[in-house]
Amino acid sequence: MARLNLLEETRYEKLPVTVYSSQAEASLAVAARIAKLIKSKEAKGEKTVLGLATGVTPIGVYAELVRQHKKEGLSFKNVITFNLDEYYPMQPNAAQSYVTFMNENLFSHVDIDRENVHIPDGTLAKDKVAAFCLDYEQKITKLGGLDLQILGIGRTGHIGFNEPGSAPNSGTRLVTLDDLTRNDASRDFGGKQNVPTKAITMGVGTIFKAREIILMAWSQKKAPIVKKAVEGEISGDVPATFLQLSDHVEFVLDEAAASSLTRFDTPWLVKDCSWENGLKKKAVIWLAETVDKPILNLPKKIITTMVWPSLP
Ligand code: PGA
Repeated sequence: MARLNLLEETRYEKLPVTVYSSQAEASLAVAARIAKLIKSKEAKGEKTVLGLATGVTPIGVYAELVRQHKKEGLSFKNVITFNLDEYYPMQPNAAQSYVTFMNENLFSHVDIDRENVHIPDGTLAKDKVAAFCLDYEQKITKLGGLDLQILGIGRTGHIGFNEPGSAPNSGTRLVTLDDLTRNDASRDFGGKQNVPTKAITMGVGTIFKAREIILMAWSQKKAPIVKKAVEGEISGDVPATFLQLSDHVEFVLDEAAASSLTRFDTPWLVKDCSWENGLKKKAVIWLAETVDKPILNLPKKIITTMVWPSLP
């Protein structure tokens, strides 16, 4: 389980992180990995079992896969998909359903066999949900497990809809959505009051069993939760931290989502810095906050070398 992190610069990071200069570039890289996996399994006469995510994060990845299908002949004939989650209750033809999302962003544009598409069913009667969830798990297992699971991360630290408090060995099940998650979804539903309070989601344990896991995050909005997921202690309070226990996970970030990681936010802690003025100011403010002292009460040497030279 142990991860060998020999780089000083990333020593606070408890799982592998790749940072791209833009979301577009990162999305292309993830799509390329998916396409390569599909082709290599196809060459061996095998099916690829993909775990898929919804939300704004994977849209660029799906767009590139569609492009590769249309322009480069990438085929989904041998692909079987399992989506992470669906709101409950939810009609598949509703604008906000993840069925609609997947059709619009991927399935309607590629040659996937509809029988090979699995999305949790938001129309089930409550007393049928548990059996459905068990069957969802068994289908994945019978197919030999997920080859690759892609994930976004919610501001609560959720993966799928595994909200804070989720167990590391949780399976597919009916869950209650966190208030912050419902806030974040309110625009899609024309108000928070219209966002369902529940969802069916694959569990943390289901995700964890995938042979490869790629979590993507873009934008400054995700930076604080990314820092917790990557550098924080493993805890059910931030379910994404459970991924630190995986040997085959990678976080793929744009620069904004990575910006709170130690190597970018307080780089002087992990490497030799080139001290341009902006960084000096930031370091002095950080130091004052860390030792809880006004800047002018910091040691004289720091004031003279760090503060005065950087004043305009
Ligand atoms: P987003 O959602 O891709 O819309 O940011 C991610 C998530 O909530 O898991």
